[in-house]
Amino acid sequence: MQGSSSRLDVMNFLNEMSGNFPNAISFASGRPTEQFFALAHWMAQFPLFARHFAAAHSLSEEAAVNVLSQYGRTNGIIDDLIAAQVGLDEGIACGREQIIVTAGCQEAIELCLRALFESERDVLLVRSPAYIGITGVAELHGIEVAGLSCAVDDTLAFLRAAVERLEGEGKRPRALYLVPDFDNPTGAVLSRAARLELIAFCSEKSITVLEDNPYGMFRYEGEPIAPMFALDQAGCVVYLGTYSKTICPALRVGFAIFPKQLGGSAERTQALMHKISQIKSLLTCNTSQVSQAIVGGLLLSENGSLKRLVEGSVDLYRHNRDTMLACLEETFKKWEGRISWNRPQGGFFLTLSLPFKFLGGEAASCARDYGVLAMPLSFFALDEEQDYCLRLAFSNVTPERIEEGIGRLGRFVEQRMATPAERAAD
Ligand SMILES: Cc1ncc(COP(=O)(O)O)c(C=O)c1O
Repeated sequence: MQGSSSRLDVMNFLNEMSGNFPNAISFASGRPTEQFFALAHWMAQFPLFARHFAAAHSLSEEAAVNVLSQYGRTNGIIDDLIAAQVGLDEGIACGREQIIVTAGCQEAIELCLRALFESERDVLLVRSPAYIGITGVAELHGIEVAGLSCAVDDTLAFLRAAVERLEGEGKRPRALYLVPDFDNPTGAVLSRAARLELIAFCSEKSITVLEDNPYGMFRYEGEPIAPMFALDQAGCVVYLGTYSKTICPALRVGFAIFPKQLGGSAERTQALMHKISQIKSLLTCNTSQVSQAIVGGLLLSENGSLKRLVEGSVDLYRHNRDTMLACLEETFKKWEGRISWNRPQGGFFLTLSLPFKFLGGEAASCARDYGVLAMPLSFFALDEEQDYCLRLAFSNVTPERIEEGIGRLGRFVEQRMATPAERAAD
């Protein structure tokens, strides 16, 4: 599989690799750790939410449980608790009426693309490499995607050039998708200044920013930077959130938050939310009310914030990241200048750059012959710029397995570096 081929094959490739080489150490999947999952305890918070819901709707608790067991409101029933949580944890000020609860962030992505992209002239802009969940959905809908293949700090310059080119071709840059905090796949962070400049440019050009933030609460060092949604005065940012990493993915609860006045107009916000709600009512009817009630109960039991709940996993991920960085240093220092990696301040991923191509074939031979699985960055890319890089996820693997896995990766690299073709290509 090359970067240019279908994104729809990536998950199959990953599943096939994991299935064929079950003993391989996987740095491929960005799943959260299971160490702090407490599903029985979380489910036990259901009655707490039922009481909250009963009081809010003047129902008996029994009647509330019956309502929760039914089909429900399309836009969701925990919007008030989500508004409070993002206020406490992310510094986002919003009202419950600005929120639509979705079946994971993935549904929010799907809904936004369906609602925003109306004409064949509309183009989606992403940084390349980009999360496959956005480029894959765009591909499913035949939406043209333009990639900005640049370092994170150069996003605005590349965006300007891409917008100018697209406008020259008679196209309409419609939305810019970004993961400003601890990007998947690169781990990169957009500076506050870059966020403000991008907001100014996008509002001037009527480009909607889709800010996806699954990893913002997983910062291991450094000062937090306000989400773009919180910095946006112009009404051009839609915020996409999820409880998949902070609680667990199986709940499938995410959400989208819309600006009060999209492009300066409350009617535009109303129209977009109405359209999204219509589409959602046909796609999934509503987000599981049982799942929402579990999230809601947990939020109530935690006084509205998830900070305490993620403390353990933040420490675990920090330790995993540090272990991986130390192992990379130990294993690859002899190739200094030829092999490099970044030091993400948070999130689940880092990027390793090699002096030879690491594509699907290399990933397969690495898994088969060396027992270690990593994702070629080309899978996420829109051009060939990432052919020499791979993504290493450190979220769902123990420190012991990280040590062993990086050692195995080192032996794979050693063997490749020793082959005459690789030496000649230096
Ligand atoms: C950047 C990004 N956005 C969205 C998602 C999907 O999240 P959810 O489980 O809420 O659908 C993921 C999952 O890994 C992700 O990395």
